[in-house]
Amino acid sequence: MDKAYTLTPANVIGLLSDNGDGEFSGQSRYGQRYNAPYIRQGRYLLFQSLDRLTPDTILGLMAQFRADPAPKKVDLGVGVYRDLSGNTPVLNCVRKAEREVLAAQTSKSYIGAAGREEFNHAVEELVLGADHAARRDRRARTLQTPGGCGALRVGAELIKVAAPGAAVHLSDPTWGNHAPLLGGCGLKLERYPYYDAATHELRFEAMIERLEAAPAGDTVLIHACCHNPTGADLDSQQWQAVVQVLQRRGLVPFLDLAYQGFGSSLEGDAAAVRMVVERVPEALIAVSFSKNLGLYRERVGALIAISENPVRADATQSHMLQIARSIYSMPPDHGAAIAAAIFADPQRKNEWIQELEAMRGRIQDMRTLLTDRLRQATGNDAFDFIRTQRGMFSLLGVSRAAVERLRDKHHIYMLSDSRMNLAGIMPGNVDYVAEAFAAERG
Ligand code: LMR
Repeated sequence: MDKAYTLTPANVIGLLSDNGDGEFSGQSRYGQRYNAPYIRQGRYLLFQSLDRLTPDTILGLMAQFRADPAPKKVDLGVGVYRDLSGNTPVLNCVRKAEREVLAAQTSKSYIGAAGREEFNHAVEELVLGADHAARRDRRARTLQTPGGCGALRVGAELIKVAAPGAAVHLSDPTWGNHAPLLGGCGLKLERYPYYDAATHELRFEAMIERLEAAPAGDTVLIHACCHNPTGADLDSQQWQAVVQVLQRRGLVPFLDLAYQGFGSSLEGDAAAVRMVVERVPEALIAVSFSKNLGLYRERVGALIAISENPVRADATQSHMLQIARSIYSMPPDHGAAIAAAIFADPQRKNEWIQELEAMRGRIQDMRTLLTDRLRQATGNDAFDFIRTQRGMFSLLGVSRAAVERLRDKHHIYMLSDSRMNLAGIMPGNVDYVAEAFAAERG
């Protein structure tokens, strides 16, 4: 007779059936089938069922780059900002605020599952604006989270609690960690067409068509700005059209705001979020300060949930707190304390805005420089799309084999879908990169 076992941690999954000849067979949550041998001695080996996984694409590439001994190598992989010397700097405003935070700190005692109240208020203001109707009507609740990833996962768990059968629709393509973060809690994932890597254009009509067919109550994850991996954003008319579909179909937007300030400005990059939140009864917003404050390893983020009214908002918040408590209990404080100190001091904040502008400007300059050099190297304008895209990334639009040749022959690292981080381009390597791209394209 089949026996059913539930293994934890739950990401391994589920129900295994004993096929009677010394093996369990089952299916992982990610759809892989496996057979797991066990020992018939009255004890089961928990880790017997775990096959070795391939490393995460982005983190794996990071390790590969570090291990490459080539003197001339170029990292266009992981999405971190780099200055002209290739360093990912600690911002000056962060250094100063950090010193103040440490000097003023009198305790390391717990704060609570919601994190710092002043941080959460400041984040709401930064994202929604000081005077947004959702805040005036007390419909917004914000939770400090361990990075944007923490926000995405808590948001996913919240959806799972509220509507276990609802699907989350992700853009095709999307950031490689969206599916594990959102699907890892068992939510069903769907894809909507977004971008055509061959023509370098949005597949906007197909996107709308797919969303029109989505069942009411489903959630749609949309990159609020600086789409990762394509660098191709919706324009304001397209946002209007999307919000109309969301309203008409009763779909819930889940906006991922990981690059506020990297597209046009802090305000400009929040415009779509603010507009969407004005028009729908419910929304989720995942916010990250990894990139715009350069606080990557400190894990600073927030989840903003918009509910229909203050009573529902309180109930939603109680679930957000409970979810946080059940996953990691409380978010780390150090980075959020630094961020809050910057947000609260107009002079520091101004310094931040200027440093952010400089990061954005450098990436835009590199887009122009690379496009110019590619014109020279190829004799055509096939790569001109790179110039006008936004944020850190563009898809070069070359084959997997070309990406491998670029890595193996030229030591230029980018993701296998040909996503490149423009912050890895410098005046000192742009000719080398452009010539390699021209030589290996296809
Ligand atoms: C990226 O997309 O490369 C970054 O967001 C880093 C990460 O965690 O994947």
